[in-house]
Amino acid sequence: MAPGVEVELEIGPVAHGGHCVARYEGRVVFVRLALPGERALVRITEARPGSFCRGEAIEIRAADPRRVAAPCSHFRPGGCGGCDFQHAAADLQRDLKATVIAEQLRRLAGLDLTVPVEPLPGGEFGWRSRVRWALDQDGRIGPRGVRSHRVVPISERQPCLIADPALTAAVDVLDVPDRVRRAAPRPPRASRSRRDGRSGRPGSRPAALPEVVLARAADGAVTPTWPGPGAPESPVVTEHAAGRDFSVAADGFWQPHEAAADVLAEAVAQALAGVELTGRVAWDLYGGVGLFAEVLAVAVGPDGTVVCVESDDRAATLAVANLVGHLGAVVRAGDVREVLADLDPEVAAVVLDPPRSGAGPAVCAELAARRPDVIVYVACDPAALARDTAALAAGGYALTGLRAFDTFPQTHHVECVARFTPVPG
Ligand SMILES: C[S@@+](CC[C@H](N)C(=O)[O-])C[C@H]1O[C@@H](n2cnc3c(N)ncnc32)[C@H](O)[C@@H]1O
Repeated sequence: MAPGVEVELEIGPVAHGGHCVARYEGRVVFVRLALPGERALVRITEARPGSFCRGEAIEIRAADPRRVAAPCSHFRPGGCGGCDFQHAAADLQRDLKATVIAEQLRRLAGLDLTVPVEPLPGGEFGWRSRVRWALDQDGRIGPRGVRSHRVVPISERQPCLIADPALTAAVDVLDVPDRVRRAAPRPPRASRSRRDGRSGRPGSRPAALPEVVLARAADGAVTPTWPGPGAPESPVVTEHAAGRDFSVAADGFWQPHEAAADVLAEAVAQALAGVELTGRVAWDLYGGVGLFAEVLAVAVGPDGTVVCVESDDRAATLAVANLVGHLGAVVRAGDVREVLADLDPEVAAVVLDPPRSGAGPAVCAELAARRPDVIVYVACDPAALARDTAALAAGGYALTGLRAFDTFPQTHHVECVARFTPVPG
């Protein structure tokens, strides 16, 4: 097996990461652009000796009936790396994600559980109100190619179909600051002729490309920011969720799907329901600008206390401003693991929304040791959720509620809201 070789494969189950598993002469091949049960001609794109291979379906010889024609011109073999499932009908995409969640929970947490993945309002395209795209040496702006640093150029003629059209329109009129132009790397001559974005010299790394964050806020305006050395502080924009406005840095964290913050806030509120929290203490860990702290503040009421913990100073500062109306809300800037050691141990409810890597066993053990009545875990990675589910189980907490949401249609990404409660005794 070597890159470029073409083989016909029976496509097996979907795996975490947006591909399906197939086998060829005993080797595992992770295949993009195929669906479970299909037969496809697959071009090998990566083959490391003694390890798995990667490949892309270039011709489907027996198709799943729920296969559809991908509408985006960038979605093709060797194309954009932003989407994984445009070739599947929306309900099939959600079934694939549900399969991955169930498989991760079974493999990493020993749980036999399936949940439907719920669609979000607004349809499957044009949902993305925030993107982080790269700028290449030729002035092209867009997401990266699949498993490459190459920029997939976005324009109104060839838009990114999952992005809000306002973001694509903004690309065509973007001013690149001089600071960014000057910092843009010049590739070594050997790599200039290559169109795949990889360096010409084997083993050498391509220079990092500058990136632009485009945020379309609740008022519809698009704010571009160019993070990097020497960048000025980004503007603050206003987003809307949970029935109110939030101040967010234009390049800071906010759910990219325009409906997601609201849907997740509601799911968190639902997961907390049934636990009497009035006047008690609740924590919002990995709290960002305070979205779930708002939900907790409503749950504990004016006599309760909410502690929001966030490591990003800018987000923590904005959380203070966002939560100013809740007298019992406190924001602690810092790493969750360090701040936890310093918090009053008495807590009734914990919401945590960690980054992709998850909270990890130490934080989970610490949370379980505090014996809150309920832990609500918002997870953007089902594998991390499954690992942390096992860690919470070891601390005496059972998974007693789980919902999943298609917050990233056309991609393999999915968001879960899991509820954990103490195992009696
Ligand atoms: C997935 S975002 C969630 C933000 C917020 N809950 C929301 O929904 O808008 C994760 C947040 O955790 C913060 N974070 C990452 N690692 C952290 C850590 N070790 N301690 C505290 N905060 C952390 C990030 O800065 C980011 O704001």
